[in-house]
Formats: sequence, structure tokens, C-alpha cells
Amino acid sequence: MNFIELAKKRCSVRKYTDQPVEAEKLEKILEAAHVAPTAANRQPVHLIAVQSKEGLSGVGRAANIYNAPLAIIVCADRDKAWVRPYDSKQVGDIDASILTDHMMLQATELGLGSVWICYFKPDVLREEFHLPANLEPVNILAVGYPENGMGDPDRFDTQRIPVSQLVSYEKL
Ligand SMILES: Cc1cc2nc3c(=O)[nH]c(=O)nc-3n(C[C@H](O)[C@H](O)[C@H](O)COP(=O)(O)O)c2cc1C
Repeated sequence: MNFIELAKKRCSVRKYTDQPVEAEKLEKILEAAHVAPTAANRQPVHLIAVQSKEGLSGVGRAANIYNAPLAIIVCADRDKAWVRPYDSKQVGDIDASILTDHMMLQATELGLGSVWICYFKPDVLREEFHLPANLEPVNILAVGYPENGMGDPDRFDTQRIPVSQLVSYEKL
């Protein structure tokens, strides 16, 4: 599978089987996060991989994770993230999201489904996982075996705006 085939295969999976994610597959997903780039190589991201019943219930109190057997909480470390000096924009969210995307695509390659989740209660996650003030939960990646297979690779003609609307060449 080349890259564009992999990217087209990925879809948001919101129904999972009970099958747990094997330790070797989780390791590969985490390795994909490990090699992701971050601004100035600051690596201001911390991941919390959750597979236990009580851990998943804790994540479930903050968000709908669709009964996925694995949830990876992606946190940005505000003490470490690079800040652009011109406008003080901190890029920790961007770094966290690059890691999330790497993990999502690696999961797809391993035959796993996933869904990226931002619709969560940050305060509940903070409390459940004792997050210190510097760690901001940015994304949750829910992962597991899809109940109904993966997405149709031809769905993008109808599910995305045309490339002509997405891109301008040379000027807006
Ligand atoms: C930043 C971001 C946040 C998202 N948050 C949620 C979420 O909280 N819950 C959810 O079910 N899906 C969430 N999604 C999944 C999107 O709804 C989904 O990617 C989009 O509708 C395109 O569908 P596809 O992933 O199947 O191609 C999120 C995706 C992104 C990129």
C-alpha cells in the first residue's frame, strides 16, 4: 500500500469489536509518534496510552470514545513547546496533532480503525489522569478493530471539497 492508498483507506471508526489491540501493534503506533517532527525538536508532547477497564472508564467520563479498546491521550507540554517570537503563538497543539496523525496512519496500516477526538471535557481528563498544569490534553485517539471495515477509498469526491477549492496557486 503506497501512501495515498493508506491515507484514503483511513476513516473515522465509531464502532469497534471487543478485540484488544496487541502489544506489538501499540508499540508500532507509539513508535510512529516517537519519530514525528515537532517545532525546534522541542518534543513537547506526552502520551498516555490507556487500555485497562478502569482507565477506559476514566476516559469515557470525559468523552465518547465509542467503546474503543485503546485510547491514547495526547497532551501538549506548555513548558516545553516552541513559541514564535513575532506573535507569541505557541505551537504545542500543532506538535501534538502531528503525533496524533502519525499514530492514526500507522494504526490504519496495521489494519486498525481509529477516530480522532477533540470533543472531550478537559477538566475531567485532568482530574482522572492527574495531569499537572503544564500538560494540556489536546487530542484523544481511540483505536481498535473496526466492526464494519474501513472507509471506501473513493469517498472523497463527495466527502471533501474539490481540490480546486482547497488550493490556490501563486495568489489567493
Ligand atoms: C481535530 C479533529 C477533531 C475531531 N473530533 C472528533 C470528535 O470529538 N468526535 C468524533 O466522533 N470525531 C471527531 N473527529 C473526526 C472527524 O469528524 C472526521 O475526521 C471527519 O468528519 C472526516 O471523516 P473521516 O475521518 O471519516 O474521513 C475529529 C477530527 C479532527 C481532525
